[in-house]
Amino acid sequence: AMISLRQLLDHAADHEYGIPAFNINNMEQIQAIMQAAAATDSPVILQASAGARSYAGEAFIKKMVEAAVEQWPEIPVCLHQDHGASPAICQQSIRAGFTSVMMDGSLREDMKTPASYDYNVEVTRRVVDMAHAVGVSVEGELGCLGSLETGQAGEEDGVGAEGTLAHEQMLTDPAEAAAFVDATGVDALAVAIGTSHGAWKFTRPPTGDILAIDRIAAIHLSIPDTHLVMHGSSSVPQEWLSIIREHGGDIGETWGVPVDAIVEGIRHGVRKINIDTDLRLAMSGAMRRLADTERKEFDPRKFFKAAKEAAAGICQERFEAFGCAGHG
Ligand code: G3H
Ligand code: 13P
Ligand code: NA
Ligand code: ZN
Repeated sequence: AMISLRQLLDHAADHEYGIPAFNINNMEQIQAIMQAAAATDSPVILQASAGARSYAGEAFIKKMVEAAVEQWPEIPVCLHQDHGASPAICQQSIRAGFTSVMMDGSLREDMKTPASYDYNVEVTRRVVDMAHAVGVSVEGELGCLGSLETGQAGEEDGVGAEGTLAHEQMLTDPAEAAAFVDATGVDALAVAIGTSHGAWKFTRPPTGDILAIDRIAAIHLSIPDTHLVMHGSSSVPQEWLSIIREHGGDIGETWGVPVDAIVEGIRHGVRKINIDTDLRLAMSGAMRRLADTERKEFDPRKFFKAAKEAAAGICQERFEAFGCAGHG
């Protein structure tokens, strides 16, 4: 059944677990997530970015998720809009049947320029008014994703600010978080702690100076009743990087957010963990491997099946590690 983000995260808070929010773009990703959720008895958050909506189209996203709910009626599913650029975009998603929207007012509408605090409060408050009137949940974001290691905001063509950011812009301030939640009424708050979108998060296994998990505890103390969200939370599995390299891919040394660090975040109020890159790495790695080892194969279903199994493996591991399994 379809359910709001608030309902899912309230249950997660009561039982002290976190829920992975996987980005979806196609049927295979949706089926992989649902199969892993069914296998582990986990609740599901499916999130669609602007990129997903332009890739598949809003009608396909919506109908594929409806099909998933029909096929797995016992699994609670939240359909969440990832990184809404404006109140108008959020309104469109609410009309389309999303049960949760993210208003990302940490960036201007271009999604590249850091926004002022006042702008963020203004647009987020408007979305909360609109969404709550019809039972839809709202996630806001305070602080900018970016690398504490390099001062770079994010990947050039991805979702996130461009250029360099000051250290303090990349760490959400606990007192400001309290004021923001009070002024906007958001259900969940994405915080900045040194993670960034994509595969290029850290040039070495992250330590506390570049991945500020301790900041989460401070924010949680300040806003204990607000569900915290970690973006840029792919772990960038070294084993999938190896498979990609073994089968012709060219991806250099890089590290993601260790699952253990996320679990530590969950102990301090993190309830939603956004993951896209890990599914991309596993799916493309599995397809590369199949293309390389089964050189006579040309049935696309074989490739998609391998990709789906790889994605389901990641999903199952995260459902289990985040304590989500058994709560579906
Ligand atoms: O927020 C970033 C997600 O990984 C979505 O990426 O805009 O390429 O779909 P995308
Ligand atoms: P990753 O790129 O680390 O998977 O993050 C995804 C994300 O935060 C989507 O909003
Ligand atoms: Na989101
Ligand atoms: Zn994100």
